[in-house]
Amino acid sequence: MYAGDNYEQCRATADWLLSKTQVRPTVGIVCGSGLGGLAEMLKDPQDFKYSDIPNFPRSTVHGHAGRLVFGTLKGKPCVCMQGRFHLYEGYPVQKITLPMRVFKLMGVETMILTNAAGGLNQDYKVGDVMVLKDHINMPGFAGVNPLAGPNDDRFGVRFPCMSDAYDRELRRLAFDVASELGYSDFLREGVYCVLGGPSFETIAECNMLHRLGADAVGMSTAHEVIVARHAGMRCFALSLISNQSVMDYDSQKKANHEEVLETGRLRAEQLEKLVSTMVARLEHYSNSH
Ligand code: HPA
Repeated sequence: MYAGDNYEQCRATADWLLSKTQVRPTVGIVCGSGLGGLAEMLKDPQDFKYSDIPNFPRSTVHGHAGRLVFGTLKGKPCVCMQGRFHLYEGYPVQKITLPMRVFKLMGVETMILTNAAGGLNQDYKVGDVMVLKDHINMPGFAGVNPLAGPNDDRFGVRFPCMSDAYDRELRRLAFDVASELGYSDFLREGVYCVLGGPSFETIAECNMLHRLGADAVGMSTAHEVIVARHAGMRCFALSLISNQSVMDYDSQKKANHEEVLETGRLRAEQLEKLVSTMVARLEHYSNSH
């Protein structure tokens, strides 16, 4: 048995939440490091500590509140993870992605995920926001894939397609909204590479990842997207470039978590505006998308 891939466990968690909130979310939002303010935008919020939710892991990271918040955003019923789970916390990858399946069972159709990431692309600046067009799942190369183990057809197929993981229409919507809001100069599009962490990358690793086609590197999101796509939810993801990855041996710079949180604070308001305006324009999509 793999933690998190158990349909009954996810169903029980979804039913527990459905019995405690009137909100019937169609949009799920995951707040990355320093980006928890997104959850504060929800109207008539109702929140649950992760530690009170059956089968949920606990959030152990500074900068992640560890709460699930239900409410409406621009009139759309939403559920928001204020803080997420990571491989480096020691949880199995099936456990850190369990919320995606719970959301699916609660009726969520669209997932919006945010994270903080290191910029590998030399054109990126700290404070840029990268729309994910694709990912490289490094742990997956070593067999750490959230879909490993017996497949439950009630969630999705054994071999799900990932070439359309990041919804094209939502990416276009992001650029349209950014243009209207005057954010075009800091909105980028690129490839996100996930690593297990918690140590930041070495200089050699950064150079390797960049050569392999990654524009940004982080420790989250891709696993969640794999599980969400498996279950037929549409996905959109943003990386806030919180630091420049160190690529040369003469550099005195050092990656650190405080810088990650600080950049989040500086860009938070614009990121919230971008996401909430996008949510306002989301149409209801069927699960076939
Ligand atoms: N590397 C990995 N994860 C990160 C980084 C980074 O430089 N910045 C924020 N999350």
